[in-house]
Amino acid sequence: ISLLPFNTFGIDKNARFFAVATSTEEVKQLIQKSKEMNVPLFILGGGSNILLTKNLEALVMKIEIKGFELIEEDENGVLVKVGAGESWHEFVLYCIQKNWGGVENLSLIPGTVGASPMQNIGAYGIEIKEVFDHLEAINRNTNEVRKFYSEECKFGYRESVFKNDLKEQYVITHVVFRLSKSPVIHAEYGAIRQTLKEKGIESPTIKDISDAVIDIRRSKLPDPAHIGNAGSFFKNPTVPVSIFENIKSEFPNVPGFPNEEGVKIPAAWLIEQTGWKGKKFGNIGVHQFQPLVLVNYGGGEGNDIKELSLRIQESVLNKFNVPLQPEVNFL
Ligand code: EPU
Repeated sequence: ISLLPFNTFGIDKNARFFAVATSTEEVKQLIQKSKEMNVPLFILGGGSNILLTKNLEALVMKIEIKGFELIEEDENGVLVKVGAGESWHEFVLYCIQKNWGGVENLSLIPGTVGASPMQNIGAYGIEIKEVFDHLEAINRNTNEVRKFYSEECKFGYRESVFKNDLKEQYVITHVVFRLSKSPVIHAEYGAIRQTLKEKGIESPTIKDISDAVIDIRRSKLPDPAHIGNAGSFFKNPTVPVSIFENIKSEFPNVPGFPNEEGVKIPAAWLIEQTGWKGKKFGNIGVHQFQPLVLVNYGGGEGNDIKELSLRIQESVLNKFNVPLQPEVNFL
């Protein structure tokens, strides 16, 4: 079966076997099945963070566990349990409609709820770890259901234990979020402030924040429904202060955001400086407004995109001595 409809990069590669799981029980059955058939199991959510470079000799299990369940409510907020197969953005809209705050800055991020903790998705000053309570996952070896609380997930910048020590060990079936009835508005991010100002909004609601984020994302990020992409292709690198100072002495305009480990430099800036922004090669390229995003204009090959990403990494390394790390998972 072709995976073309199941990856936002729009790459046409096949899966040997394909099945949909709509419940915890079905996930367990398919884990069993893959063992009986002796084929590897690959878990697919929204397919918005993968680059297919070859056919998958695997049983691809698409998670379609649905549902929103209110498991706790008081005057301050709610705990809501969400099926891993729900669309992330649908969940955000649901929260806004209920007036539950916490995820409005994360509007319009492609992908599913179940994939969100995998890489601790984040945008416009917020990461999901801030609203995450716990998740439920099935152990692929024992078929047991286990809860993981925040500390156990070891969230970092686009990182969690599920990408590292527990890689391919668990299938996430549900995520429980803690949302607020008296939300703290996060409008510090420059682009949000600017958008609110243009609209003449002085005390924004969570709906205003969500609308602003949607406008910003639509204005500079390509819509995967029209142009294949997987959002940011690389992570924003953090370099030691000394390296940052070196770069700054040669490139005084380098943007930098200090954090605990050093200074974070926008990868988009590094890529733009090395001349890749907006470059097109046949049916693939580097996006014209956001060079951190690699695009497939249609019919592109995963291997060509991978090749392009390696060339970008090499340029940035040569010019700035900064290694870029992919954010997208290569398959
Ligand atoms: N920049 C340039 N040239 C450009 C565009 C941006 O130099 O053409 C520089 C500017 O200095 C700008 C800075 O990059 O201020 C930051 O750009 P932007 O606000 O677009 O954010 P980003 O750091 O490139 C990150 C996330 C995005 C998230 C945005 C908004 C990563 C890897 N990416 O991008 O997440 O939407 O912030 O918060 O952290 C994703 O992960 O797929 C994703 C889209």
